[in-house]
Amino acid sequence: MEKNKKQFLSLLLLADEQENMIDRYLDRGTMYVLDDNGVKSECVVTDEGEGILEIKNIATKPGSQRKGYGKKLIEFLADKYHGQYKLLQVGTGESPYTIPFYERCGFVRSHSIKNFFTDHYDHPIYEDGIQLIDMIYLRRNI
Ligand SMILES: CC(C)(COP(=O)(O)OP(=O)(O)OC[C@H]1O[C@@H](n2cnc3c(N)ncnc32)[C@H](O)[C@@H]1OP(=O)(O)O)[C@@H](O)C(=O)NCCC(=O)NCCS
Repeated sequence: MEKNKKQFLSLLLLADEQENMIDRYLDRGTMYVLDDNGVKSECVVTDEGEGILEIKNIATKPGSQRKGYGKKLIEFLADKYHGQYKLLQVGTGESPYTIPFYERCGFVRSHSIKNFFTDHYDHPIYEDGIQLIDMIYLRRNI
């Protein structure tokens, strides 16, 4: 568990490119960093009440993606919080990079918040040329 969370700002920004949006959850969040001969991935989780643990931020260093580190972090969370929470939840844009990752990690779509990205970010967010508009939530049991 990491105390000085801002030292990992470059990784946090990979997952969430606007720093004041990160500040909305960083203080109350718990951060984990996966170190395998150097930092590879990080995630930040928050208690959302009613037995729900939410992943607010997860990122793997660009040179280390698609090697299983992100999935390892998800499995770590599921093990660590098993019995303490009912559900692991994550919100993400309609992105061809992130949704397949979460689905491979056992998440299924649950609900969405219309216009989250256009309402809360000060600039349009694009991934692979597609503008992110709604926040899509996915969940899995833990
Ligand atoms: C999304 C992210 C965290 C995934 O981490 P990762 O360490 O690369 O993922 P893993 O190597 O553990 O992948 C786990 C599984 O998801 C699949 N996967 C990962 N990225 C994928 C992609 N872009 N498209 C399709 N499948 C993908 C892997 O193939 C793997 O499948 P498998 O278990 O069948 O082998 C990473 O790509 C990242 O940091 N992206 C930038 C930040 C970001 O967008 N974060 C999410 C914000 S909501």
